[in-house]
Amino acid sequence: MSKLPPDFLRKVKDAVNIVDIIGEHVVLRKSGASHTGLCPFHSERTPSFNVNEQKQLYHCYGCKKGGDLVSFVQEMHGLSFVEAIEELAERARIPLPGEWSGAQSSDDPKVAAARAAAREKLETSYRLNMFSLVYFQQQLGVTEHAKKYLAGRGVDAALIKNFYIGAAPVSWDALAAHMSARKAPMELAVELGLIRPSQKNLKQGSGYFDIFRNRVIFPIIDNRRKVVGFGGRTLPLEKGMPDVGSDGPPYLNSSDTPVFKKQKILFGLFQAQKHIRAADSVIIVEGYFDAIALAGSGFGNVVATCGTALTPDHLQILRRLCSKVIILFDGDRAGVEATERAMVTGLGQGMVVYGASMPEGLDPDEILFEQGSGAVIAGGRERMTTIVESARPIIDDRISEAAAEAARSPEEKSQAIRRVAAWLRQFKDPLGLELRMESFCKLSGVSRQLFNRAMNEDGGIQQAARQAAQGAPNPPPGPPKSTANKPQSGPARISKRERIVLGAFAFGSRFKTILDLSGGNLPPKMTFSDLFDYLPAREFVCRLVNSDVDMARFKTNPADFSDEALDAQVRSIITEAAVSETPPYGDSDVQLALNRCLARVWARFSQEIKKGLAQAEANKDAALQAVLMKEYLDVQRKMKEFNEFYDEG
Ligand code: UTP
Ligand code: MN
Repeated sequence: MSKLPPDFLRKVKDAVNIVDIIGEHVVLRKSGASHTGLCPFHSERTPSFNVNEQKQLYHCYGCKKGGDLVSFVQEMHGLSFVEAIEELAERARIPLPGEWSGAQSSDDPKVAAARAAAREKLETSYRLNMFSLVYFQQQLGVTEHAKKYLAGRGVDAALIKNFYIGAAPVSWDALAAHMSARKAPMELAVELGLIRPSQKNLKQGSGYFDIFRNRVIFPIIDNRRKVVGFGGRTLPLEKGMPDVGSDGPPYLNSSDTPVFKKQKILFGLFQAQKHIRAADSVIIVEGYFDAIALAGSGFGNVVATCGTALTPDHLQILRRLCSKVIILFDGDRAGVEATERAMVTGLGQGMVVYGASMPEGLDPDEILFEQGSGAVIAGGRERMTTIVESARPIIDDRISEAAAEAARSPEEKSQAIRRVAAWLRQFKDPLGLELRMESFCKLSGVSRQLFNRAMNEDGGIQQAARQAAQGAPNPPPGPPKSTANKPQSGPARISKRERIVLGAFAFGSRFKTILDLSGGNLPPKMTFSDLFDYLPAREFVCRLVNSDVDMARFKTNPADFSDEALDAQVRSIITEAAVSETPPYGDSDVQLALNRCLARVWARFSQEIKKGLAQAEANKDAALQAVLMKEYLDVQRKMKEFNEFYDEG
C-alpha cells in the first residue's frame, strides 16, 4: 500500500456513495439488499452486475469483476490507484492533504507548501484551458471558412460536439485580447502554449499574441475530463483574409507542461473509453482527423497520438481499459516504421501489440471520407471493418518477413536471425515466446539450436527467454523446508479448489471452521495460507491471518481491503462472497475443496523432501540423508493417513 495519509482514504470513501458513482454509468435497480444493472465491463443483456450499498462493493457474476469504489473508478476510467482517489476526493470536495503528491508524502512543511502551490497551479491551468476551449467553440460558430472546411472533411455537427471542436479566428491576438479582458493569468497562458508576449517595440493591445491562429482546434481532454491542451490544424485562407502568419507547420500542439505531456496523452480517449471497454480493444491512429473519421463511422474505440511515437505510458493507460491494442498507422513508409517501433515498445511492456495494414499511401480518414466534399465514401466503412478485423500481432508479420529474408543469402540469414532474436529476447510470456521461436525456425529453416545461440548471444537475456531457449532448467537446489514454504512463482490462474476455499473463507461466517479444519492437518511449519498455490491468494490470506487487518471488521466490511495491488482474481472472489446473501458454496463442496488443497500441500511437501534427499545423496551427506529419510517416511505415513481421511471425505 502506498503511503496514503492515515484515514484519508476512509474519509473519501465515507463521503461518496458507491451507488451514486456507479449510478452515473449504470442504470441500477434496487432488488433486496443490492442494486443490480447491466455490467459496464462486459456486454450483456440480462443484469448480472451487483452493487451492495451497505458494504460499498460491486461484483459482476458474469465477467467476475468486482471491488470497491476506488477500483471501480480505476477500471472505469483507466486510472491508477492514486488518480482514482484524487478523482473521488475531488467529487467529494475533500481537499487533498497538504503533503499529497500521489504516492509519496513528505513531512517537510516547505516541500508540502510547494506541492500545494503546484497543485493549485495545475487546477488553474485546467480552468484556463477550459476557458480557451469555450472561446474556440464560440469562434467556430462565427467562422464560416472553418465550418466549411470541417464539412468538407466529413465532420458533421454531432462530431463537432462530441470532440468539442473549435476554431481559432483569422487574427493575431483574438484569444489574448479575450483573456486580457477577462483578467486571465497571462503568464500561465504563455506557459501553456496558448499565447506569447509580443516583441517590445510592437507592443500594443494586450501585449501578447496567439499561438493558434486561423486553425481548426482539437481540444485534448484526458480521461478525468480535464482539458489538458489543444491541437490545431491550419485552415486555408480565403480571398480577402489578412495574413496572420498561419502558413507554418500544418499542425501545432500545446507545449509540454505539467498538464500536457505528449507521452501520456491520447486524443479522443475521453470519448472512446466506454467503446474501448465494450469492444475490449482500442484502435490507435496517427492523426486527429483519422480518429474523428473512425469515430464518425462507427469505430468509437479509437484514439490518436498527438504527433509523437507511441510510448510505454500510452500502452499502460490503454491496457487498463482493454486487452487488445491495434495500431492503424498511415500506409506510408513512416507509418510502417512507427508500427514496428510500437511493436518493440509493446514487447518492452510485456504486450503483444496488433497491427492493421492500411492500403499503400492512404490514411484512415481518406478511406472513409471524400476529401474536399466530405461525402461518405461508399463501401469505406466495410473496407475499414475488414482492415481492422484482419489486424494481427505485429511481431508475427515481422517474423514472417524476416524468415523470407533469411532465405535469400547467408548474410541476410544471420541478420534476420539476430533481428528476430533481439525482439524475442524481450518477450515476457514463455508460451507466446516458444510459439514464436517455433514459427520463425519453421518458416526460415533455421535450426532451433542455431536460433537458441542467437537468443543467448546478448548479455541481458530475459528470464522467460532464457528458460525457453534452454528448456525448463532445474531450479537451484536448496534446503527443502524453506522452498516448500515460499514458492517463488505460482500458476497464473487460481484453481477451482482454491477459489472455493477462499470464497468460503471470505464469506466470513465460516472461516473459523475452515481454519480449524485445516489447522491440524497441515504439514509441520505450514499455515493456512500454504493451502494456496496461487500466490496472490496466499499473500492475501497471509495478510488477513497475520493480524494486520482486523478480522472482525473484515467480516462486516470487506471494503477495508482496499489495496492498489490486490490481484483481480482474488478481488473477484472476495467481492462475490461479500455481495452474496447466502454462502457461495455448500458445506460439502467446501470440505472437498479443502481436502484437495491439503492433499496438494502434502504432495508438495513430500516432493521437497525427496529433492533434499537426492541432493544429500549426491553430496554424500550421510547424516542429513538419515534425517531426511526418516522425515520422508513420516510424511508418507501421514499422507496415507490423510488420503484415507480424504477418500472418506
Ligand atoms: P499527417 O501529416 O499524417 O496528416 O499528421 P493528416 O492527419 O493526414 O492531416 P490532414 O489529413 O492533412 O489534415 C498526422 C498527425 O501528426 C501530427 C498531428 O497530430 C497530426 O494529426 N502532426 C503532423 C504534427 O504534430 N505536426 C505536423 O506538422 C504534422
Ligand atoms: Mn489525413
